[in-house]
Amino acid sequence: MPANRPIIITIDGPAGTGKSTVARMLAAQLGLDFLDTGAMYRAAAAIMIEKEYTKDQVGELVSEVIGADLHFDWSQDPPTILAWDTPIDHRIRSQEVTDAVSFVATLSELRQHLVRKQRIIFAQHPHLVTEGRDQGSVVFPDAAIKFYLDADPEIRARRRIDQLGLDPATMSLETMCERIIERDRIDSSRDDGPLVCPDDAIRIDTSGLGIEAVVDLMAKHTLARVVDLPEIDS
Ligand code: DC
Repeated sequence: MPANRPIIITIDGPAGTGKSTVARMLAAQLGLDFLDTGAMYRAAAAIMIEKEYTKDQVGELVSEVIGADLHFDWSQDPPTILAWDTPIDHRIRSQEVTDAVSFVATLSELRQHLVRKQRIIFAQHPHLVTEGRDQGSVVFPDAAIKFYLDADPEIRARRRIDQLGLDPATMSLETMCERIIERDRIDSSRDDGPLVCPDDAIRIDTSGLGIEAVVDLMAKHTLARVVDLPEIDS
């Protein structure tokens, strides 16, 4: 990729479409940094749980998250997230956090704070693949390359069960599918930064595609467009 030009590739889409995995692989293949914005919302949810804030204490929660100064350790691959300078990666994928994060992601004040942080991260890492729900639509509307990944809910539920290594006896496909559809509903219907497919995004249905095939397709789209990118201002 050209070192003298900023490049941001946004990847949005619902849970279980393989966004994190393909974003990380695409970044590695193209020599770009990788940003997992879901980790920032999950970290905020972990803080809410740890500090025992209720849903009525939004102002206090947002102040606490601002004070935690969420940031990434870019020397790790993938970068790990820290709060109060302490790694919290190991706490952000639990079911408790997953259940709380949909609420946390509806809080406009918190979203504004994290959106600001994401823009600062791009200023500091101007060769970036970023994934989330609002990256191409709200955070980086001028991104030259936007992707929107989608997949059938049942396939997404199956992937999530495999990814989390869950026992089918304790988590049925049907229950996971219901949870995924509910998360889609919450993510798509919130007022601030709802999950939408930007008009200018390349939409890829990953239902019948393997990870490598998705990454290859995205790399081809990216390389086809990159020749037209403007140079970095010095
Ligand atoms: O991708 P994920 O499952 O780690 O995302 C966790 C939650 O954060 C999910 O409910 C959607 C929300 N999210 C968001 O609202 N905006 C983003 N840019 C990234 C994630």
